[in-house]
Amino acid sequence: MNTDEIIKMALDLVNMTELPEDSAVYVPGKDITNILYGIDIGVAELLYAKEHGFDCVIAHHPVGLINHWQVFWRHLDQLISKGIPKEKAQTIIEQKVLGFKFGSHARNYDAVPSFARLIKIPFLNIHCPSDELGRKLIAVAIEELIRKNENPTLDEVKSHLESSFLEFKKALTQIEIAKGEKNALLGNWIFSHGAFTNGGFDIADCYFKYNINTVIYIHIAPAELFQVLKLDYGQLLITGHLASDSVGINPFLDRLEEKDIQITAIGGLIR
Ligand SMILES: [Fe+2]
Ligand SMILES: [Fe+2]
Repeated sequence: MNTDEIIKMALDLVNMTELPEDSAVYVPGKDITNILYGIDIGVAELLYAKEHGFDCVIAHHPVGLINHWQVFWRHLDQLISKGIPKEKAQTIIEQKVLGFKFGSHARNYDAVPSFARLIKIPFLNIHCPSDELGRKLIAVAIEELIRKNENPTLDEVKSHLESSFLEFKKALTQIEIAKGEKNALLGNWIFSHGAFTNGGFDIADCYFKYNINTVIYIHIAPAELFQVLKLDYGQLLITGHLASDSVGINPFLDRLEEKDIQITAIGGLIR
């Protein structure tokens, strides 16, 4: 298998045809049989892989890209799908991506890829396709619960997700009701994921203002959480970063294993 075929396999799982801007092949390779996979990969992991007979390294999070934040625009369709007017959604996203853009200017985007090139190890990262798969799987699980129990409580949603996915059971983090009462009803909800990163306060507040009772993120920065907590409306569930990323990554790694590729998972993957 070569790196292009690996990418195609990840894209096919979510019916994508092109690699999003937050995913890339940094060093192409072929005849791959033994992969080191990590949610985060740095130079130490690359060197370890080279010295221990791995013929490819795959990261989840992007490590050397400058336009990865463009994927945040995927929030637009999610917002529109919940009835938020397009112009309103665009204004919020434009502001957020401006921050991400200049944040990425500050970073040393070639530190890790240049090292992979130096030691000649095939290296890629697959972010949005895996997150999109995770978004679909977790949303389907919530819909399944709603079919049995029309308006579950936040605590019932939490228990259902924990019993539906091994990743939530195994994780050190818990699914947290960050804002809201355990026995409060889920109501109108959105699982906002698969769009580079969480939408923070602005996107959560926008959903709340357009009659979404519960926003579900995989993580949120403390400063943004404190803003949400000040609101006298809205409920927020946080499912946990590594566990939720792993939900979308594991089916892809299973596919690779079916093709007789050996996978060694490190760097926070819950498998
Ligand atoms: Fe992710
Ligand atoms: Fe992540």
